[in-house]
Amino acid sequence: MTTRRRFFARMGAAAAAARLLPEAAYAQRAAAKAVGAGAGMVWLNANENPAGPPAVSLDAMREVLPASGRYHYNEFGDIYTAVAKSEGLAPNQIVLGSGSSEVLHTAVDLFTSPTRPLITVTPAYEGPRDCARHLGHGVVLTRLRDDYTADVHKLAEEAEKAGGGMIYLCNPNNPTSTITTADDVDWLVNHLPANTMLLVDEAYIHYVDRPDVRSALPYIQQGRNVIVARTFSKIYGMAGLRAGFAAARPDIAQKLESMALNVISIVSARAVLAALAHRDTVVPQRKASLIQTRRELTAWLRERDVKFIEPNANFLMIDVGRNAREFIGAMPKLGVAPGRPFPPLDNLLRVSIGTPADMAKFRDVFWKVYKG
Ligand SMILES: Cc1ncc(COP(=O)(O)O)c(C=O)c1O
Repeated sequence: MTTRRRFFARMGAAAAAARLLPEAAYAQRAAAKAVGAGAGMVWLNANENPAGPPAVSLDAMREVLPASGRYHYNEFGDIYTAVAKSEGLAPNQIVLGSGSSEVLHTAVDLFTSPTRPLITVTPAYEGPRDCARHLGHGVVLTRLRDDYTADVHKLAEEAEKAGGGMIYLCNPNNPTSTITTADDVDWLVNHLPANTMLLVDEAYIHYVDRPDVRSALPYIQQGRNVIVARTFSKIYGMAGLRAGFAAARPDIAQKLESMALNVISIVSARAVLAALAHRDTVVPQRKASLIQTRRELTAWLRERDVKFIEPNANFLMIDVGRNAREFIGAMPKLGVAPGRPFPPLDNLLRVSIGTPADMAKFRDVFWKVYKG
């Protein structure tokens, strides 16, 4: 059996390689440093979905398990068609990957270089930035605006200065849970400097509850230099199944496909298909329940006059008024693992939204540490 300790050790080794780590790996490494992972720990550190895969996906996986001795390559034409269709795309406009991590990695590999940097905000999801650094490619980091949103003008300016590269925009942004409005994304798409690709990571887009935010997928139909990354790890609750996809113009998708490791596991693929077949109920139900639990937490924080960044995803950042590392060190000892540090936002603690019971425990432990 793989113990958590052994898993952490392997993650430590993986970090040295040029590989894009998923959120869980960043989270687990940080947690391993904080405390020996105890049984009964409430894990609010990796923006996972406590609901797990939908029941229909569990059934689909049970059904295919005995047949998993076969590669099932012949099914992947239909699988690509179904995933593409779920977003109104054609099969040649998508590439499946082992989580969105794989397609993010491939995009960094293909569209950045030592002279064409990855341009993003700080803090954003570390994966693409770290991958570019490991590959010896350039990285340019821009500051968030005062309201913690990405400054699209600065991103374009940096791409212009560099003579091209790839802009990575996470919408909503991890870790701040802030959004980039449809108007800002539109401005950026229409002002992309020459030789510049825009990679929009929509891992958390399903949780957004604002009319001024839209997916960047329509730009793919318009033939723009845009790649959209999506994952089944978040609202679909399948983080451990490792399924995601990139959507792009067919010529870009073909380049990404040429670097794909292989097809994804048939078990994961069948789970994805089942979930997509029930998307119209699964997504709104999960979104509504997340928003309800998130609202309870934000109301509780407001009552106590604890500041936080207004969230748009299944996590939020709380201003703890001192270095958040104090909480990151103390809370796991009391049974709750919050997110890792996100410099330069040193006083902000990221917490994933778990079940109502998880959040009750969070409030209890957080308050103990907050009050000192
Ligand atoms: C913004 C963002 N993008 C991508 C990923 C990678 O997730 P996965 O590889 O599970 O799709 C994560 C993980 O949490 C994330 O937060």
